[in-house]
Amino acid sequence: MNEEQRLQSVQVKGPEPDRKVEKDYSKYFQSVYMPPSLKDAKKRGKEQVSYHKDFSIDEEFRNMGVGRKFYIRTYGCQMNEHDTEVMAGIFMELGYKPTDTAQDADVILLNTCAIRENAENKVFGELGHLKQLKTENPDLLLGVCGCMSQEESVVSKILKTYSHVDLIFGTHNIHRLPNILHEAYMSKEMVVEVWSKEGDVIENLPKSRLRKTKAWVNIMYGCDKFCTYCIVPYTRGKERSRRPEDIISEVRHLAAQGYKEIMLLGQNVNAYGKDIEDLNYRLGDLMDDLRHIDIPRIRFTTSHPRDFDDHLIEVLAKKGNLVEHIHLPVQSGSNDILKIMARKYTREHFLELVAKIRAAIPDVSLSTDIIVGYPNETEEQFEETLSLYREVGFEMAYTYIYSPREGTPAAKMKDNVPLEVKKDRLQRLNAVVNELSFEALKPYEGQVVEVLVEGESKRNPDVLAGYTRKNKLVNFRGPKSAIGQLVNVQITEVKSWSMNGEMVEVVNLEVKV
Ligand code: SAH
Ligand code: SF4
Ligand code: F3S
Repeated sequence: MNEEQRLQSVQVKGPEPDRKVEKDYSKYFQSVYMPPSLKDAKKRGKEQVSYHKDFSIDEEFRNMGVGRKFYIRTYGCQMNEHDTEVMAGIFMELGYKPTDTAQDADVILLNTCAIRENAENKVFGELGHLKQLKTENPDLLLGVCGCMSQEESVVSKILKTYSHVDLIFGTHNIHRLPNILHEAYMSKEMVVEVWSKEGDVIENLPKSRLRKTKAWVNIMYGCDKFCTYCIVPYTRGKERSRRPEDIISEVRHLAAQGYKEIMLLGQNVNAYGKDIEDLNYRLGDLMDDLRHIDIPRIRFTTSHPRDFDDHLIEVLAKKGNLVEHIHLPVQSGSNDILKIMARKYTREHFLELVAKIRAAIPDVSLSTDIIVGYPNETEEQFEETLSLYREVGFEMAYTYIYSPREGTPAAKMKDNVPLEVKKDRLQRLNAVVNELSFEALKPYEGQVVEVLVEGESKRNPDVLAGYTRKNKLVNFRGPKSAIGQLVNVQITEVKSWSMNGEMVEVVNLEVKV
């Protein structure tokens, strides 16, 4: 099959809500392949978001998965992990059983991330490996979903180079999984369904949660910030918030099921509520309402410094189940770099915000994200990032070398910083990050902390692992019955990134958070 025939014979099922079919091939083919387009995604409109509560599995698909197993490999952020929980929920409703090996599966999905080039390369590598499984088992369905499938260059590459893939669907098409699977079983061609439409909010999707103690809860989808380096506003669509009553009822339900911690999710949670015009209700209001629910810990991620308002700070200062840890990505300490990143705050604004937060919550722990080696970043600009890191006293950071993303404004910028220099900057930054992390942990030595026990430690099943309210990892010896519980642990040893301790029965001891 030549390239043109292949492109034309790819089937796209379901409506393509906001794009016109330029040439009508439908006489010849069942439907027409329309690649996802960053250009379209950029033309962000003011269309009304609609809320749907009517998700249901069509009668004809009900037993599709009986006798079949699914396997989903997830890349990327917690948002993606949570999408995997939703897709797992849909698979289970279709009668599929989960499996934890690709070899054993009848359907394999790669839920992908597009944030940096190496994230994408991992997926292409994996697609190469999985070809072998497809050859051994021609009935196996192999699919690609998640953020990479929203990029037109990726879809074209898969069509050209990875023709053993059976289905590709986008982040706005998750609820259509039953239909997409059905098409893939019926068709010999690759099924591609990627809407560049901004997406609606669909409320009653099933979820099969991966963990029993911590639960993810979306509060909003998408991002409208368009930081110049970032692909997310294109892959996840425009900002759209869930209605407060839906979030509150989900959290109540999780509390009733025995969950101990909720992580509220959004790419930019501080913009929560802005898009709901009939409602003057923002993240501070939501946190204030959630505070009253009987669940020990509530966190959120990720906050953008720009929309972090005083009311939110005031509410977080009430503590209770609102933990004293805030992840606040700063990206750079240089005003020039922040400007070309279009972060829309300065170093001074950021420091002011930190001062306000610290005044209201003196024991707050702050963590951040940083990008080094932005196009043309000078040594002085990089040093401003180092000095800001120390000035704020961040206790943890995710650090990255800038990775150009096709279609973003930064990808067009010329760059005179050699990769070796970028790598060196990352190392120097990481040395500071390690140093401050250790410093933040040191005072815990000999203290008793409250730990939410997640399970056995990855390295040693005799050791349990969990996190404090400030998200510090603690490894300790204790009974398996402690898993899923909040327990007190006396810290015996402090390392750069974690602490070791012994579980204690505490009577009248002061417990640190
Ligand atoms: N919505 C979040 C960020 C999500 S992406 C926020 O704004 O805070 C997580 C992190 O990946 C970002 O904070 C940024 O530090 C990093 N990142 C995003 N795009 C990147 C790129 N093109 N190259 C390198 N790092 C990037
Ligand atoms: Fe990307 Fe910026 Fe949106 Fe975060 S706020 S997802 S970095 S565009
Ligand atoms: Fe990656 Fe998409 Fe998350 S690009 S970081 S999986 S929103």
